[in-house]
Amino acid sequence: MYGTEQADIFELMHKSRGKDYRAEAEEVARRARLRKPDADSLLDVACGTGAHLRHFAELFGHVEGLELSEPMLAMARKRLPARSAVHSGDMRAFRLGRTFDVVTCMFGSIGYAATTAELDAILRCFAAHLVPGGVVAVDPWWFAETFQDGYVAGHVARTDGRTVARVSHSTREGDTCAMRVHYLVADARTGVRHVLEEHTISLFTREQYETAFAAAGLSVEYVAGLNAGRGLFVGTLLDGAQDQHRP
Ligand SMILES: C[S@@+](CC[C@H](N)C(=O)[O-])C[C@H]1O[C@@H](n2cnc3c(N)ncnc32)[C@H](O)[C@@H]1O
Repeated sequence: MYGTEQADIFELMHKSRGKDYRAEAEEVARRARLRKPDADSLLDVACGTGAHLRHFAELFGHVEGLELSEPMLAMARKRLPARSAVHSGDMRAFRLGRTFDVVTCMFGSIGYAATTAELDAILRCFAAHLVPGGVVAVDPWWFAETFQDGYVAGHVARTDGRTVARVSHSTREGDTCAMRVHYLVADARTGVRHVLEEHTISLFTREQYETAFAAAGLSVEYVAGLNAGRGLFVGTLLDGAQDQHRP
């Protein structure tokens, strides 16, 4: 899904499109500390290239990441301090053997859950990695009710001797978004290459996310407007809920 080529251009493209990873990390840290003022450890799930994690590492005493794609993972490991473990793992079923004050999952990554059963399993996994009173922050994919069928985006980024054009088209297919992203990558040495990414991302409803939080023993608040309009779910592990996550 995210191979070496995609890992190489992913962050360059999104930063050039105006994505402010630092501001997003600061906003998540601020909202987490409203709920847990002493929060000092954080796990970023589906951390990609570590673009949020490098900022989280400046905001928290201890950070770790988890990621499925090996090329993305390799980039995250390269840029983070050696003390910050980045684990190879699947957000639908992982067990790291420790807990954190905050668990995050950013940039719609949770939409790779194919079903509500997987969504529920992911939130249970997040809750199982929280200290009592710990906080989960999820930047969701577009909701079934907010997704724009046929959405087209386009952008050209120029940096470090490379020009990358990105055009995407997203359509509704049942309860999923089928997103096709075409890249043209040009540089002096290799000329122009075409790279195609195809993503199937679930269009869960806001209620399905909230149900998954509640089933995992988490409170949930939805903050509209953040993250380019996708919003942010923030939840706290409710008293006694950690007992339901013991192995
Ligand atoms: C849109 S990218 C976001 C990456 C990063 N969070 C960011 O904000 O730049 C989605 C990421 O989710 C990862 N991913 C997809 N399914 C996953 C799974 N089941 N477990 C862990 N990571 C997964 C992908 O490999 C990819 O790195």
